Amino acid sequence: MILQLEHIYKDYVQDKLVVPVLKDVSLDVEEGEYLALMGPSGSGKTTLMIIIGFLDVPTSGSYFLAGQNVAGKNDRALAKIRNSSIGFVFQSFNLLPRQSALENVMLPLLYGGVGARERRRRAEEALEKVGLKERMKFLPTQLSGGQKQRVAIARAIVTRPKLLLADEPTGALDSTSGRQVMELFAQLNEEDGMTIVMITHDRNIAAQAKRVVFIRDGELYFEDPVLYAPASSYEAYDDSDEEDLYEDDPEEDDPNEYDSEDEDTEDYDPEVSEEDFDEEGADAGLPDAPEGSEEAEI
Ligand SMILES: Nc1ncnc2c1ncn2[C@@H]1O[C@H](COP(=O)(O)OP(=O)(O)OP(=O)(O)O)[C@@H](O)[C@H]1O
Ligand SMILES: [Mg+2]
Repeated sequence: MILQLEHIYKDYVQDKLVVPVLKDVSLDVEEGEYLALMGPSGSGKTTLMIIIGFLDVPTSGSYFLAGQNVAGKNDRALAKIRNSSIGFVFQSFNLLPRQSALENVMLPLLYGGVGARERRRRAEEALEKVGLKERMKFLPTQLSGGQKQRVAIARAIVTRPKLLLADEPTGALDSTSGRQVMELFAQLNEEDGMTIVMITHDRNIAAQAKRVVFIRDGELYFEDPVLYAPASSYEAYDDSDEEDLYEDDPEEDDPNEYDSEDEDTEDYDPEVSEEDFDEEGADAGLPDAPEGSEEAEI
């Protein structure tokens, strides 16, 4: 069992008001599974994923990763496990705009303490896997959305994590690029045995996973609570927010972006700021960003 969540609760406190977001979530994920997590906007999907990825802690409940109890580990230990065992893919790619594809992909290895030559070899290998080796010197602004997401996938898998977490990885992509990303995920799962947990709003995308679980108002269901609801209780589900899903501008910044509490930039943090990288990069002797690369990623 790679993941074991038992009775996870997560409350957020907003203006002294306690907002329960996850309510008694228990979930087992076997090694090599490919799981899709579906649910309306605001149901708690991202919140659950950031807990699975150690970017936040649950209010209560227990969590085992590969049999190891996560509770009680300090931030540094968690960051180390995260860096070596978990890869993240975000809807909005989260690439550093002034670093090339290659430098972006090497970053987790830098934080993992891998030497320069090996960093480069492994990053090139990961970029080759996602079909972008010939574009490794390109900046994110010089890549299409689908290519950016493939760079982000290369960055997520370069440490050879056991677990790949993806939060709406195709949400900002056209259907062709989305399909390429899905093909890559299937390959990572089937050929490399990587365990994947993917959030999606799209039933066609979810259908490519081997198992789908549903979350509604912070509660987990193992079959679709809407499809399987008796007719009489159908109205009990408030689907008014479901409409919003499709009105969202996929390029818009997610107000619920991952928010790491871990300020320790020595370890890889997907939310690490560019300033952090520049400092670290300078220390580690990384080349400066190419000239004329100051513009922000659009
Ligand atoms: N840091 C936070 N502080 C307070 N409330 C939060 C925080 N993060 C999330 N929430 C609340 O938790 C609920 C679930 O948010 P979450 O981001 O997990 O939803 P989601 O299912 O991922 O939605 P979407 O499909 O829109 O991404 C929302 O009501 C949100 O307002
Ligand atoms: Mg979300």
